[in-house]
Amino acid sequence: MKIKLVLISFVLIIAAISLSSCKHDSIPPIIDESAIKDTVYFNDVVLPIIQSNCAYSGCHAGEQNPELSNYSSIKKMVNPGDPKNSRLYTYAIGNKMPPSPKTLLNLDQVTSIYGWILQGALENTEPCDAFQYAFKKDILPLIQRNCISCHNKGSTNGTGPNKGELTDYSQISAKANTILDRISGKNGSIMPPSPQKPLSDCKITKFSNWVNDTIKDN
Ligand code: HEC
Repeated sequence: MKIKLVLISFVLIIAAISLSSCKHDSIPPIIDESAIKDTVYFNDVVLPIIQSNCAYSGCHAGEQNPELSNYSSIKKMVNPGDPKNSRLYTYAIGNKMPPSPKTLLNLDQVTSIYGWILQGALENTEPCDAFQYAFKKDILPLIQRNCISCHNKGSTNGTGPNKGELTDYSQISAKANTILDRISGKNGSIMPPSPQKPLSDCKITKFSNWVNDTIKDN
């Protein structure tokens, strides 16, 4: 009888352990610091990730602590130079934030946050040249940084065969004119939506130059 009880408790404990590990089954990413060669800019890379994933209405836009809507509030969550001891990074890999229906940050986004903290968590902005508008080097990263949290694979924030997906050349080029209208706030609600800041004039002109120069896949 005793042996049976011991056996049953053993099985229950194992079941409990495996169930709880199911919930937290993602292993913290191993970030290759040597691969972060380029400057990670706060205003162009980090802020859009945080605004579209965390600082939206009802969450960390002020309603929930910590507030994460601007540089000074975000800076309070980091130890410049030490990402592993920065709450902004440990939250991002903690497998809880952002909560459903948002998806967890992807490895690129987590790596950007890590790199920015490692480089000193500065309030910096990438220099912009509107005449640099090659698709792979300029246009795709622009969309990936500012739009992908809502227009990723499986997104239904849009119409047509690919619905709201804006992840590759065919999808972005098919909606190039609609994108241009939306980022410049001409037709329909402006993209990215508030509280994310609108794209800078230089970035809107960059996208417009790409559209006017025959939407090349270069
Ligand atoms: C925080 C979420 C969010 C972000 C970030 C975002 N969008 Fe959207 N987008 C939406 C939602 C929701 C809709 C559907 C409602 C609407 O049309 O306004 C939409 C619709 C659109 C549409 C219309 C799609 C169609 O098929 O008619 C375009 C184009 C668009 N977004 C472009 C962009 C671009 C470009 C960016 C980045 C510069 C961006 N969006 C960033 C949420 C977002």
